[in-house]
Amino acid sequence: MKQNTLLLIKPNSTKKNQIGEILQMVEKNGFVIEELKMFKMTSDLADAFYVEHLGKGFYNELSEFMRSGKIVGAVLSREDAVLKLRELVGNTDCAKAALGTVRSIYGESIGENAVHASDSIESAEREIGLIFK
Ligand code: RTP
Ligand code: MG
Repeated sequence: MKQNTLLLIKPNSTKKNQIGEILQMVEKNGFVIEELKMFKMTSDLADAFYVEHLGKGFYNELSEFMRSGKIVGAVLSREDAVLKLRELVGNTDCAKAALGTVRSIYGESIGENAVHASDSIESAEREIGLIFK
């Protein structure tokens, strides 16, 4: 089934001029870029976007990192987009990410892991609503 999902290119990657390479990787893997924007995350947006992680030990570090530079948001479509993008992105911890995945190439640590990908159809709808409202 054709679906939409959300990709965020995180501040560690935008700072290193890797936006083009990461977007090329998703396009080469069958995703169509439906919407695209560059923005900075505020503290309120970080709290809403990562509501499931609010209060966890790593949350303050995560929020600070996501506010540390520009972010590129992309709505991507293809068959089984949510699952296929999670596969392409790889494990949260770049040290455990399979060879050839985005995080294995561009990730620097478990926190500065280059990209975000929605984890379900419901998350994709919620997150796209927050970023592209
Ligand atoms: P994402 O939401 O960014 O696509 O990543 P994910 O589903 O693979 O990971 P999730 O569990 O949702 O965690 C969200 C982001 O929080 C940071 N994190 N840091 N230091 C830590 O232990 C830790 N754990 C998670 C990462 O930036 C992760 O992508
Ligand atoms: Mg997640």
